[in-house]
Amino acid sequence: MKFFADTAVIEDIKDLNDYGLLDGVTTNPTLIAKSGRDFKEVIAEICSVVDGPVSAEVAAMDFPGMIAEGEHLAEIADNVVIKLPLTLEGLKACRHFNQNNIKTNVTLCFSANQALLAAKAGATYISPFVGRLDDLNLDGLDLIQDIRTIYDNFGFETQILAASVRTANHVKDVAIAGADVATVPAAVIKGLANHVLTDKGLEQFAKDWAETGQSIL
Ligand code: E4P
Repeated sequence: MKFFADTAVIEDIKDLNDYGLLDGVTTNPTLIAKSGRDFKEVIAEICSVVDGPVSAEVAAMDFPGMIAEGEHLAEIADNVVIKLPLTLEGLKACRHFNQNNIKTNVTLCFSANQALLAAKAGATYISPFVGRLDDLNLDGLDLIQDIRTIYDNFGFETQILAASVRTANHVKDVAIAGADVATVPAAVIKGLANHVLTDKGLEQFAKDWAETGQSIL
């Protein structure tokens, strides 16, 4: 499973990239607003750091507006992926971009039928939001499993990009369910390396090693 960083904070992106933990980046209007930076400038900077796909979301709600904005965003860099909402207008725009060899990420997916429509529209990625379903006491993981089954049944090539993934357990669960990608906040990705028994074991090994009085170099 690939890891995308769900952030517009360039320092976090550079940090994860240096560890070799990053396959791409997703942004959304909320993350851009939080960054306090110019949208196109921050997307260009992320694309200069990351080789993988970088999702940039349109703001328009109508088909012509989405096409105009998407074409403009696609000019920023070759690895820009146009993020479109899962509406009928967004699906129409998705089909257009697919026919023009521009990659798309169809976002705000909350049902398996929505994901089916996105695949039929030729989406490169579908973003089902796990955490926001869990917030409503619904099961975000069920959604990932259902989409995996449907896509495998019909051989759709659209990649399942599990979004709104907020915890280490979410990461494990969507990986088991067969998501192709998980987009995850930077701190959660780094936190996956932590285990209390790793820390405890390392502390003991360091103590025992010191007692040998040896040096490897
Ligand atoms: C990514 O594409 C989504 O916009 C993001 O994962 C949403 O996460 P949230 O539900 O934690 O805001």
